[in-house]
Amino acid sequence: MEVLVLPTPADVARRAAEVVIDGLTAARRTEPVLGLATGSSPVGLYAELAAAVRAGRLDLGHARGFALDEYVGLRVGHPQSYREVLLREVCGPLGLPVDRLHVPDGSGRDEDELVAGAAEYERLIADAGGIDVQILGIGANGHLGFNEPGSALSSRTRVKRLSDRTRHDNARFFDGIDDVPTHCVTQGLGTVLDARRLVLVASGAGKADAVAAALEGPLSASCPASVLQWHADATAVLDEAAAAGLR
Ligand code: F6R
Repeated sequence: MEVLVLPTPADVARRAAEVVIDGLTAARRTEPVLGLATGSSPVGLYAELAAAVRAGRLDLGHARGFALDEYVGLRVGHPQSYREVLLREVCGPLGLPVDRLHVPDGSGRDEDELVAGAAEYERLIADAGGIDVQILGIGANGHLGFNEPGSALSSRTRVKRLSDRTRHDNARFFDGIDDVPTHCVTQGLGTVLDARRLVLVASGAGKADAVAAALEGPLSASCPASVLQWHADATAVLDEAAAAGLR
């Protein structure tokens, strides 16, 4: 894995954008496929990619985007559903056509529908020719996507229960902890590993322990992001605070 440590979150966003653009260019596909994380970590990176689109250095008009995950049970159009977040933060600013954005379906009425939706999501990724570049953040507990500690390293897209830690961490996006969904549909760790290039962005001291465990700890389900060590083309772009626990 390549590890890039930069002074500030703004530097992380700029450098990560170059790694993403380089990966999409190297893919040489007429319809490149970008894997999309949500949350705070990639916000600056998306802003840099939007600037590259405006400057004519990147064109996502024929690309496809696949979200990493989605909450289960939020009403259609809920501003914190990851579909809505990506419509706001990616489709508009980056010129990714709305009908080319794919998000796991968290609207199933029962487990059977959710399981069928997850299998369909895997089919959609395969039909698109796989993901060329997957953007990733990391949870403070080492989760990747919403693959919480204990997730199978070869898992595929499926329904997962969110840990209390993750629900607390994400309560800042909602009116309170009670409004945070308890379940999600997430790409599996095996799904993530199938992407041709992985780009992890992490900033801030709150991520330092998780980053150290993921990048230098044992490859283990107790730190799902440690699967990054397994990938042939993974780059971690960190600010100094997030890298502070590295040896
Ligand atoms: C989001 C996702 C999560 C986040 C992680 C970090 O799609 O899959 O793994 O990347 O929870 O979240 P932030 O960036 O908000 O600290």
